[in-house]
Amino acid sequence: MTFWNFFFTNKNTKIIHKKNKNSEKQQIFIENLIKNDKNINIYYSTNKNINLNDLEKLCDAVGWVKRPLKKVKIAIENSFLIISIFYYNENKKNLIGFARATSDESFNATIWDVVIDPQFQGKGLGKALMKETIKELRYHDISTITLFADPEVIKFYKRIGFITDPDGVKGMFWYPI
Ligand SMILES: CC(C)(COP(=O)(O)OP(=O)(O)OC[C@H]1O[C@@H](n2cnc3c(N)ncnc32)[C@H](O)[C@@H]1OP(=O)(O)O)[C@@H](O)C(=O)NCCC(=O)NCCS
Repeated sequence: MTFWNFFFTNKNTKIIHKKNKNSEKQQIFIENLIKNDKNINIYYSTNKNINLNDLEKLCDAVGWVKRPLKKVKIAIENSFLIISIFYYNENKKNLIGFARATSDESFNATIWDVVIDPQFQGKGLGKALMKETIKELRYHDISTITLFADPEVIKFYKRIGFITDPDGVKGMFWYPI
């Protein structure tokens, strides 16, 4: 798979407030989104206690290669930020979006696993999820945000403000042979 290294740097954004990194919140993300002629409210949460089977189903839905749940659990536990988005149908929580970020908690953060359920794509949720992720990272005064984009989503990230290879800097990878 080809990866592109993306950078989002915003050194001038004013920090509005800081929040405890362990705090959890579940709040309305988007009100009255129309799905199958019904209005539904979309919620988001930064709670790391995410249902791994639901996450696996979401990743399956976009055709991502399966990863061992044990490793996914560790990755989530060790992430700096988790954002999940979901709606309720008859009290059942349905996960429809996810993103996470790792960080040195000072200068840098890298965003991983950005995904929106195909049934909900093209409605602005991916963009809103990315903006929320950036906002959360900026609360912690993190100014350099990077990610690795599959070639088919480069335009998506560029629209949000990410740039490729600033000053010629290239992402480099090492894999075990
Ligand atoms: C990439 C992804 C998260 C986008 O989510 P989404 O909810 O469909 O995106 P949005 O509806 O918020 O689109 C935001 C903007 O990006 C554009 N866009 C979305 N997907 C795009 C794509 N693949 N290529 C180019 N532009 C794209 C939209 O047209 C929209 O443009 P606008 O702001 O001018 O209206 C979603 O398609 C997805 O989960 N894909 C599979 C997983 C994946 O590839 N993740 C990224 C891994 S690097």
